[in-house]
Amino acid sequence: MKTMLIYFSSHHGNTKKLAEAIAQADADVEICEVSDAKGLDLAEYDRIGIASGIYAGNFGKPIMKYVEEKIPKGKEVFFLYTSAMKLNSHTAGIRKLAEQCGWKVLGEYGCRGYNTFGPFKLVGGTSKGHPTKEELNGAVAFYQGL
Ligand SMILES: Cc1cc2nc3c(=O)[nH]c(=O)nc-3n(C[C@H](O)[C@H](O)[C@H](O)COP(=O)(O)O)c2cc1C
Repeated sequence: MKTMLIYFSSHHGNTKKLAEAIAQADADVEICEVSDAKGLDLAEYDRIGIASGIYAGNFGKPIMKYVEEKIPKGKEVFFLYTSAMKLNSHTAGIRKLAEQCGWKVLGEYGCRGYNTFGPFKLVGGTSKGHPTKEELNGAVAFYQGL
């Protein structure tokens, strides 16, 4: 399965680590930061992964805009995210977009990611050490189970 995994990971590179772990485990997976992804032809791929940190309860604006414009109708997609707190509602926005755009959602994987946003910086941040090795392995297992 030829897969392109587009990621947006601006805070600490937490989500990028999930993307890299999956690409290392499977030679059919290519990864690309969303700002470098302009020239990609996503129709060439069997599946598209959409990966982002969570910012104000949603996937990042740049990746939301990119995938809305670029992912063809009917394409199989899956979601990856990291966030300070693990909440199912974090994928509500991207799931709604998937429905509007007519993509087929295969599944999602999320885990915690180191956070120093706003006042959390003063106390050394939250979710320190995340994603852990186990969480990275969890992302790989999720991908392999799709
Ligand atoms: C501007 C901003 C807003 C955030 N909002 C949330 C949020 O609503 N819920 C949450 O659980 N974490 C939130 N976080 C924490 C990030 O989701 C978390 O640190 C994530 O792992 C960042 O991923 P990245 O390093 O790939 O960018 C926020 C972080 C930033 C910088």
